[in-house]
Amino acid sequence: MDIDVTDRAIYTRTLGIEHDPLDGPRVHRDTQGREVAPDLLALMGETPLVALERLSRDVPPTIVAKLEMLNPGGSVKDRIGIAMVEAAEAAGVLKPGGTIVEPTSGNTGVGLAIAAARKGYRCIFVVPDKVSQDKISLMRAYGAEVVVCPTAVEPEDPRSYYSVSDRLAERPNAFKPNQYFNQANPQTHVLSTGPEIWRQTGGRIDAFVCGVGTGGTATGVGRFLKERNPGLTVVGADPEGSLYSGDTVHPYLVEGIGEDFWPPTFDPDVVDIWERVSDQESFSMARRCTREEGLLVGGSCGTALVAALRYAATQPADASIVVLLPDSGRGYLSKLYDDTWMAEHGFVEHTSGAGAVGDVIAAKGDELPPVVHLHPDEEVAAAIDLLREFGVSQMPVFAGGVHEDASRDDVLGSVRENALLDAALRDPGVMSKPIHDVLQPPLPMVDTDAPLDQALAELSGGAPAVLAHERGRIIGVLTRADVLAYLADR
Ligand SMILES: Cc1ncc(COP(=O)(O)O)c(C=O)c1O
Repeated sequence: MDIDVTDRAIYTRTLGIEHDPLDGPRVHRDTQGREVAPDLLALMGETPLVALERLSRDVPPTIVAKLEMLNPGGSVKDRIGIAMVEAAEAAGVLKPGGTIVEPTSGNTGVGLAIAAARKGYRCIFVVPDKVSQDKISLMRAYGAEVVVCPTAVEPEDPRSYYSVSDRLAERPNAFKPNQYFNQANPQTHVLSTGPEIWRQTGGRIDAFVCGVGTGGTATGVGRFLKERNPGLTVVGADPEGSLYSGDTVHPYLVEGIGEDFWPPTFDPDVVDIWERVSDQESFSMARRCTREEGLLVGGSCGTALVAALRYAATQPADASIVVLLPDSGRGYLSKLYDDTWMAEHGFVEHTSGAGAVGDVIAAKGDELPPVVHLHPDEEVAAAIDLLREFGVSQMPVFAGGVHEDASRDDVLGSVRENALLDAALRDPGVMSKPIHDVLQPPLPMVDTDAPLDQALAELSGGAPAVLAHERGRIIGVLTRADVLAYLADR
């Protein structure tokens, strides 16, 4: 793209910066002198700083957060969405009626979609398959078309999200902003985010902490702040499995940050210290931030907060540390804020302090054989005998031939007292029929490491019992009575 990205005029238009952010917060006035912004685009940027008193209580300084989720589209990427669109218009590469094609993990898509909606462009976004359904739905809600591509392929693979977006961008009148290559990305942060932070801290800032995806934020903010204060430290927060902090590249679940290549929008020299953070640490910290600060944040905010806290632990009480929080937790309600999703991915969270599913199983002792169960070919009469013998109201049904050591995959369904009663009333001959004929859906399954809350959610949602499994092996059945007995005896 033949464009001078340092041309201040572009950003004057795009980010509504009629004045330098260093001069003070923007106040928009309409022709009647009212404080009314001309449109949503003018409200991008100028996000507030807030002290994170509670999260910082165990480290000497109080960490300050820049709340990028308060941008109109809900993330830091609003800033570059509009900037890249207007830079392309100025360069003549995006013309009226054009289509914007971009590989994006979601937030840049929303930023671009808002700009496109205001300016009448069509949008096609290409996303990796790990991106949450919530984010995909969100981009579609703004009127964008979304193409989902596999993550487990090389960037050069024709199915990768980079390759697919390249092909779509070759279509006539299509324009690919390409946030990983577009220098308007870091430059937006040199001209908006960096100066805002400098002004908001009164120039009292010792360290800036952020996650690194395209590297636009770290590069732009880092360059601006270091020019003002060469002694400033930039701390890069990087997921385990990302190339940036030197890890062996492998898949991870936190979205929007870390990379398996070095994009030209990232200047690695700007980062002084890398902090490598696991998915578990990131997600637990995001949830903690929401619960303790009342600030609903996304997974990569957790990564940045873990990095900020580790760094802060080494600093004096008067150190001024700013961490940038890119987006809100609303985009992740079905992921890191969902207990079942967390447990399914092996992330243990004891929200209520009540213990784990495995604790209740252990407390039951060995009064019962491991798991009383039935096979589909047994007769209904035999099922009733077993229910009576063990004084239980439901039982799992395992695939024929499975005795001890059943796995989750062996579970075919269940028999339940109330359904048997129903069947017996309707058909007196049911007693000699196979269990297969009265089979009910499987009982919900929970990991022994899962918090008890998860089993309780199933039980209060109508399940008569849940099956507990240890890494896939079924080890017990849990009822409300079992949970009550455990809680009473604790
Ligand atoms: C959720 C989230 N966090 C952090 C980032 C990283 O920002 P940058 O691309 O400027 O490095 C992104 C970028 O996509 C993101 O979506």
